[in-house]
Amino acid sequence: MKEMLEKIKAEAAAKLSEANADLEALRVQYLGKKGELTSVLRGMGQLSAEERPKIGQMANEVRAYIEQLIEEKSAANRAAALEKQLAAETVDVTLPTEPATVGSRHPLSLVQTELEDIFIGLGFEIVEGPEVEYDYYNFQALNIPENHPARDTQDTFYITDNILLRSQTSPVQVRTMEKKKPPIRIISPGRVYRSDAVDATHSPLFHQLEGLVVDKGITMGDLKGTLELFAKKMFGEDTRIRFRPHHFPFTEPSAEVDVSCFVCGGKGCSLCKGEGWIEILGAGMVHPNVLRGCGIDPDVYSGFAFGLGIERIVMRKYNIDDMRLLYENDVRFLKQFD
Ligand code: DAH
Repeated sequence: MKEMLEKIKAEAAAKLSEANADLEALRVQYLGKKGELTSVLRGMGQLSAEERPKIGQMANEVRAYIEQLIEEKSAANRAAALEKQLAAETVDVTLPTEPATVGSRHPLSLVQTELEDIFIGLGFEIVEGPEVEYDYYNFQALNIPENHPARDTQDTFYITDNILLRSQTSPVQVRTMEKKKPPIRIISPGRVYRSDAVDATHSPLFHQLEGLVVDKGITMGDLKGTLELFAKKMFGEDTRIRFRPHHFPFTEPSAEVDVSCFVCGGKGCSLCKGEGWIEILGAGMVHPNVLRGCGIDPDVYSGFAFGLGIERIVMRKYNIDDMRLLYENDVRFLKQFD
């Protein structure tokens, strides 16, 4: 029996030392219930009382020996597999990465930021207002009662009879004056809506920037001075401005304001269509009714307001002839700006 155990031990050791030994099969073969070692142990009953413990001990040693060999071999296999995997998955951290595609800022954002910077420099504060607005703020409080013809040019999208998508940023004037008492010096950029069909110069969604100044003793001279400074910063130091009389229900007097063409300087060219002037905004002195409606006494305070279309400035500045380009997200167009 002793010889048998030694034979098993030697044989198992030899098989386990083979490079691609099947460990599980060998475990079953030697140590399993029907394995070689177990069948040797089954014959122990025939041994003398004296021999039995010795053979028993030896059998245990052989079992422990084979178990250990299997465990070592298995650990070695795992280590080798890991080694192989690591070698296969090596990453060369010194390789250059794929360059990230960095987008560019949208021309509408570029111009809006430029406008904001100029007015912040003049001491204005930026405020925002809701795009979904009450009829009251968009029209009534701006001196545009129901059935007023000015509503026709500002037809918009209605959520209810009373709630609409704002057709102008002017309602922010009212919201500001309701909350804050003079001195007020704010601009308010944002989206506005009108139910216009899309074409080269119209879009149902576009952007405006509103301005409002209210204080004691504010005059049309302040409005002119502010807009002139703004025009020079925006379009160049040689820029001149021109006021043309106009009508807006929420300002009195009202004007449309042109800047001298920043391409030809006023001589007339294709950008200004031979006019020498380019219309950029509407403005005026805040109507007493509007001030009063916000709880500001028009006998004590006065103010000016202006509103400009951001698309219009973008299109003039970058010589873009079709407004749709600004909304179509064609990368070939957008990547020209930075
Ligand atoms: N809200 C006007 C529009 O959309 C533009 C405007 C004109 C704004 C005169 C003003 C202003 O603040 O004083 O046509």
